[in-house]
Amino acid sequence: MKFFIDTANLAQIKEAHDLGILDGVTTNPSLMAKEGIKGEDSVMKHYLTICELVDGGDISAEVLSTNVHEIIEEGKKLAAIHPSIVVKVPMIKDGVKALKWFSDNGIKTNCTLVFSAGQAILAAKAGANYVSPFIGRIDDSNWDGVELIKQISQIYKIQGYKTEILAASIRSPLHIVKCAEAGADVVTSPLEPILGLLKHPLTDIGLAKFLDDAKKMQAELAGAK
Ligand code: E4P
Repeated sequence: MKFFIDTANLAQIKEAHDLGILDGVTTNPSLMAKEGIKGEDSVMKHYLTICELVDGGDISAEVLSTNVHEIIEEGKKLAAIHPSIVVKVPMIKDGVKALKWFSDNGIKTNCTLVFSAGQAILAAKAGANYVSPFIGRIDDSNWDGVELIKQISQIYKIQGYKTEILAASIRSPLHIVKCAEAGADVVTSPLEPILGLLKHPLTDIGLAKFLDDAKKMQAELAGAK
């Protein structure tokens, strides 16, 4: 399973990248706004900085247009920033048409705002490279986000669709584990749940004991000299 980080914060992207486990980055207009990135030029520049920081990873850049012709024009501009750019397109009727155009014209895409298996089937039929079901937001609305990942994974296997399932809207380390178990090809998560995967109290207790025993042995050796 690939790991993407879901943020536009450069320090957090660098921290995840330095861990050596990062395969890409997803952003969205809300995440860009959170970092105070305003205006087309600044947004384009920020995407380029992210692409250069995570060399070789897949970097999702979201279109703001909702009309097929404008989505295509905007997507072409985004794709021209860097070869790592994946154009993120919303799951709407014009978005599906644009996904097909991008797929026919060799531009990589991530179909975003997916909340049902039917939407995931359409994204795959239109040739999206990634489909992004929003796990956390589904849980928030009293449905089961991980169940949707399982369902899409089963459908894609049966139908032989090549679209990769990118589990998004991740809220906890357990979400990441459950999505891996459910057949997600990728998870995109904020930094905190990724770092949360590291934590186990027995690891800390075990390490403290190993280091303590090693220190005692060194002290005994030094005393014997
Ligand atoms: C996906 O690409 C989105 O950017 C993101 O995962 C949405 O997460 P949220 O529901 O925490 O805003």
